[in-house]
Amino acid sequence: MHLMLVDPDHVAVGVGRLHFNSIREAQIRYMAIDVSAQRRGFGSRLLAALEARARELGAARMVLDARESALRFYRKHGYRTVGPGHVLYNSIAHVKMEKEV
Ligand SMILES: CC(C)(COP(=O)(O)OP(=O)(O)OC[C@H]1O[C@@H](n2cnc3c(N)ncnc32)[C@H](O)[C@@H]1OP(=O)(O)O)[C@@H](O)C(=O)NCCC(=O)NCCS
Repeated sequence: MHLMLVDPDHVAVGVGRLHFNSIREAQIRYMAIDVSAQRRGFGSRLLAALEARARELGAARMVLDARESALRFYRKHGYRTVGPGHVLYNSIAHVKMEKEV
């Protein structure tokens, strides 16, 4: 599922995606809020909406790969670190995180 947050002029403010890895495990991917709109609660709203949809569809666990700069954001939303993730473009390290929903 793709979710996009738009402003009153229908300009995209942020995006996020929900994948199912199995019947019970959903993964958040490609979360991003426009630089000009960060730290105003939009990422939290998008994440909450993706988690709510995952729950509705039967997920028991959320997983994601967070870049290090986003760790605080996900921790604030109850995710815990479970180990190292992939390295994107040979430079952006990611960390695996998860939480029960
Ligand atoms: C990470 C991201 C999705 C968060 O979205 P956002 O709309 O900026 O986040 P919110 O305003 O909902 O933030 C909620 C809380 O998360 C934490 N947080 C968010 N961004 C943070 C940052 N850059 N540094 C530290 N804490 C941060 C803060 O605790 C914040 O609460 P506060 O503003 O009251 O202190 C967004 O900053 C982003 O798109 N970053 C670049 C792309 C990216 O890293 N995507 C994630 C890929 S894994």
